[in-house]
Amino acid sequence: MKIIRSKDALRTLRRSWIFNGERVAVVPTMGALHAGHLSLVEEAKKQADRVIVTIFVNPKQFNNPGDLDNYPRTEEDDAEKLAPYGVDALYAPTPDQIYPEGFATNVRVSGLTEDLEGAHRPGHFDGVATVVSKLFLQSRADVACFGEKDYQQMLLVRRLSKDLDIETEVIGCPTVREEDGLAMSSRNVRLTPEERAIAPALKAEMDRAADAIRRGAEPRVVLDSAKAQIERAGYDAVEYLEMRDAETLAPVKDLTRPARLLAAAMLGDVRLIDNIAI
Ligand code: PAF
Repeated sequence: MKIIRSKDALRTLRRSWIFNGERVAVVPTMGALHAGHLSLVEEAKKQADRVIVTIFVNPKQFNNPGDLDNYPRTEEDDAEKLAPYGVDALYAPTPDQIYPEGFATNVRVSGLTEDLEGAHRPGHFDGVATVVSKLFLQSRADVACFGEKDYQQMLLVRRLSKDLDIETEVIGCPTVREEDGLAMSSRNVRLTPEERAIAPALKAEMDRAADAIRRGAEPRVVLDSAKAQIERAGYDAVEYLEMRDAETLAPVKDLTRPARLLAAAMLGDVRLIDNIAI
């Protein structure tokens, strides 16, 4: 696996692949790789002849400076984890390759990003949209694999690719979970053992709520009671637990179209998010 730090080196490699008619997939990450990321790499391998994994801890998407400082940076371990997967290139650019001196462009996807995570993390999605646009244009990948774990992010990336005529098709991949249901996340390592024991309550209550709604119970009542249960289980605060249209994320009152339950909750100083189909 080649480790690449500059966009020019990436371009040269990419050109040799295009020359051979090879299809290229990209898996954008911020490192601290876990089984969820590795499942994206496996899907990328199925989708393309060549796979690029990117690792870049993107300062523009952190609305909380403490979160940026605490974000795990484990490039050597990450490279070791990727080794068995036959990844062709690890693109870990230096910051100037993404944000050169004088960088002044901001990509904003409106509508989709204003609510849920967008409402709780001001500026976050602009940072994501900007860096992903750059990673798509630098890699010129045919496909990109994104986890459904960050469902709103996956929809916004699909939207920006379409809107900006970027020829990278966005593939959504199912959330990978621990045995007790907790969605894998780079943040899970920051949970204390006590918090880790409480953490699965979020998904468990979401499943219970989804079942009740499917059986015809009134969604607002079910979701309010699920929120209370999650907090009773030991979460400090549920920031949101909402049922939304699975494609547009618009609020929905009934199940006439595919919907999604989406949640964010604080456990100690760790913010966890999850979502499930309903
Ligand atoms: O999901 C992530 O890890 C990041 O938001 C992404 C897509 C790599 C952009 O920095």
